[in-house]
Amino acid sequence: MSIVIKLGGKLLSQGEMFNNVIIDIANIIKKSNKKIVLVHGGGPQINQMLEKIGKKPRIVKSASGMESRITDRETVEIAQMVMAGKLNKDLVAKFESLQIKAVGLSGIDGSLIKSKRKNNLRIIDEKTGKKIAFHGDFSGNIEEINSSLIDLLLSNNYLPIIAPIGIGHEFEPLNLDGDRTAGHIASALKAETLFLFTDVPGILINGKIIDKLGKEEIESILPKVEGGMRKKVYAANEALKMGIKSVFIGSGLIENPISSVLDGRSGTELSWKFV
Ligand SMILES: Nc1ncnc2c1ncn2[C@@H]1O[C@H](COP(=O)(O)OP(=O)(O)OP(=O)(O)O)[C@@H](O)[C@H]1O
Ligand SMILES: [Mg+2]
Repeated sequence: MSIVIKLGGKLLSQGEMFNNVIIDIANIIKKSNKKIVLVHGGGPQINQMLEKIGKKPRIVKSASGMESRITDRETVEIAQMVMAGKLNKDLVAKFESLQIKAVGLSGIDGSLIKSKRKNNLRIIDEKTGKKIAFHGDFSGNIEEINSSLIDLLLSNNYLPIIAPIGIGHEFEPLNLDGDRTAGHIASALKAETLFLFTDVPGILINGKIIDKLGKEEIESILPKVEGGMRKKVYAANEALKMGIKSVFIGSGLIENPISSVLDGRSGTELSWKFV
C-alpha cells in the first residue's frame, strides 16, 4: 500500500522550518516498507518569480467560487520553471542528502499526468462581480495518471517527487492544482491515505481546528473556508469520492507531522468513516 503526501508551496516557503516533514518522510522510508509518493505545490514561489520579471500575479475567483490563477502562456512557462525546475530539484537534492534515492518528475515526463487544457476560464470579474470568460488560459483538468511510471520507481525503491505540471493534448505544459494532482495520483495508485501538508495546523473555523470531518459535514463547511484552504477541502473531498479512505490536512512545520496527524494530535482528518 502506498501513501501520497503533498507538500504545499506555503510550507516550502518556510525555509528550514519545513525540514520537520522532510525528516519525518525520510525516517518512514528508512524504517518501514511503506511506499511514499510526494507531490508539491509552488504558488508563493511562482508569484515571487512573476513579480521579479515585472508581471503581476493574477489570482481571481472562478465561477465555482474557488480561488484560481489566471495562467497565460508566460505564466505557465514561469510555473514550469519554478515548480518542475527549481522547487522539484531542490526537494530531490534534500532527500538525496538524507540518503533517500529520489527522482523528480513533472506530469510531462513519460506523460505522467495527461490533462485537458481549460482554455476558457469562467471567472468572477473583480470590478463588476459578474461572470466573465478569460480566453487563452493554460491550466488543465487531469484526465489520466500514468501510474506504471510511478510503480516502476517505487518497485526500485525510488521516492518519486512530482511537480503539478500536466501535459496537454497538444503536448503543451499545463498548470495544475497541486492538491487535486495529489488526489488523482493517490486514486490511481489506490493509496490508503493522502496527506496535504501546509503552513497551518488544519481547517480552522473561528480560530479553532476542526479535528474530524465526515461526508455530510465537508460539503457544508466548504463555503466557510477561504482561499487556498477552500481548494484543499475541495480536493480532499474529490479524493474521498475517488476512493481514498482518509485525507489529512495538517501543518508540516511541527515535529513528526505524520505521526502527529495520524494519531489525531494535530490536523484535520476527512473521511467517510465519520459519516
Ligand atoms: N479556514 C481556514 N483554515 C485554514 N487555513 C485557511 C482558512 N482560510 C484560509 N486559509 C489559508 O489557506 C492557506 C493554505 O492554502 P494555500 O493554497 O495558500 O497553501 P498551500 O496549498 O500550502 O500552497 P500551494 O497552493 O502553493 O501548494 C493557509 O496558509 C491559510 O492562510
Ligand atoms: Mg494550495
